[in-house]
Amino acid sequence: MTDSKIAALAARIPEDFDLGVATASWQIEGDSKGRGSSIWDDFAKVPGNIKDGSVADPACDHVNRVEGDLDILKDLGVDSYRFSVSWPRVMPGNNQPNPEGIGFYNRLIDGLLERGIKPVLTMYHWDMPSELQAIGGWLNKDIHKHFQNYANLLAENFADRVGMWATLNEPWVSAYLGYATKLHAPGLGNPAAGFEAGYRLMSAHGAAMSVLREHKANMPGIALNLTEVITEDERVRAQADHVDSLQNRFWLDLLAGRGVSEALIERTSQFTDWSFIDQAQLKDIAQPIDWLGINYYTPIRIAPASEGDQKAALGQDFSLYPGVPEGAQMASREPRTEMGWEIFPASLTETLKQTAERLPNIPLYLSENGAAFDDQLVDGEIHDQDRVDFYLGHLNAVMDAKDQGVDVRGYFAWSLMDNIEWAEGLEKRFGIYYVDPKNQARIPKDSAKMFKEICKRNK
Ligand code: BGC
Repeated sequence: MTDSKIAALAARIPEDFDLGVATASWQIEGDSKGRGSSIWDDFAKVPGNIKDGSVADPACDHVNRVEGDLDILKDLGVDSYRFSVSWPRVMPGNNQPNPEGIGFYNRLIDGLLERGIKPVLTMYHWDMPSELQAIGGWLNKDIHKHFQNYANLLAENFADRVGMWATLNEPWVSAYLGYATKLHAPGLGNPAAGFEAGYRLMSAHGAAMSVLREHKANMPGIALNLTEVITEDERVRAQADHVDSLQNRFWLDLLAGRGVSEALIERTSQFTDWSFIDQAQLKDIAQPIDWLGINYYTPIRIAPASEGDQKAALGQDFSLYPGVPEGAQMASREPRTEMGWEIFPASLTETLKQTAERLPNIPLYLSENGAAFDDQLVDGEIHDQDRVDFYLGHLNAVMDAKDQGVDVRGYFAWSLMDNIEWAEGLEKRFGIYYVDPKNQARIPKDSAKMFKEICKRNK
């Protein structure tokens, strides 16, 4: 049954379509002694912040096991590998480079190229150096200059070999989970700070874009977590619109040169006057990108509060959208993943179409898509049929968007291997490889076997 579905899907994927897997530094690397401290190290030390008490070490001990992990990627047959650089590993916060850290990423990048895999580098996947947090982190008015120095160091060292660059991963998460609420590091819990952090993240993106262009880096871009905001009820249209504007349109408007919308400024006036906006920075932010990454997991559904208790998915909460009018609730539907996230591939097609309209003429990539399920290791195998179906459904949804004219050029499965799922710790497993906490063994799940087959048929 699955075999015929794999064959049918593979036949829809064009030969030049980029197939890859993704990871992020803090979630897999371990070896925190080899680098400076980050906000996630600090956050993880506070009891209760991470559900199972996981800390940076050992994670997947990837720094010490990089050769084996490279061989897994080769065996999987992917075209590309998306990883992130740990800022405090290459520049511990004092603007001084750390040669050992740079050496690690050189080994990783060279190892990928030797195996015929394109390196896709994300500059910032949430692990800011603690020293920069001490001066305000994303609220410091000069933070874009620090990010620019960091971009310079990365470009000088890696621009000759990296195939694609993402400046930021999901700035919405950094700003609203880390600053507006306390769900993620640094855990400020100040709604007004969310707006400013979001803006300053984007000004850092703009500054880094200029550096990457100066160094003639291949394909600079950014990865955003975008999704469809669905409501079937006119009574909550205003709430859905507000959520859509913070989740999706704010970032795309800035990239498209439309600035911050008057409507958003008005709706958030109780929190901020947006006086931190700088016209020159707006211009930098709007310079053309070569690709846009979309990280997609689940839709957001909004229903009237009067409609009885609906189930909200993990992380779907109105506190993440300061200024949302009263009277609505989040309402996800079955079927759901272990994160409580609704599985609804049609929404991915819609997200791609919507994004192509809001930011036209930019090649799109699914820079992340995947799911956590309650995997069971039985006799050395993991039959994760739920995840196999998830991938088949969502890859088909991407092809549906392509058939409808959306210029989507690649897909990265999240994630190569089980890792620290941020505040959820190690208990939520997103990998296509199972990582055994006892001995760090990497065991291919059925979903890895499926992905390998798709890659093979796509050669
Ligand atoms: C992030 C990943 C994370 C995944 C699943 C994305 O928001 O970029 O780091 O593990 O979603 O929650």
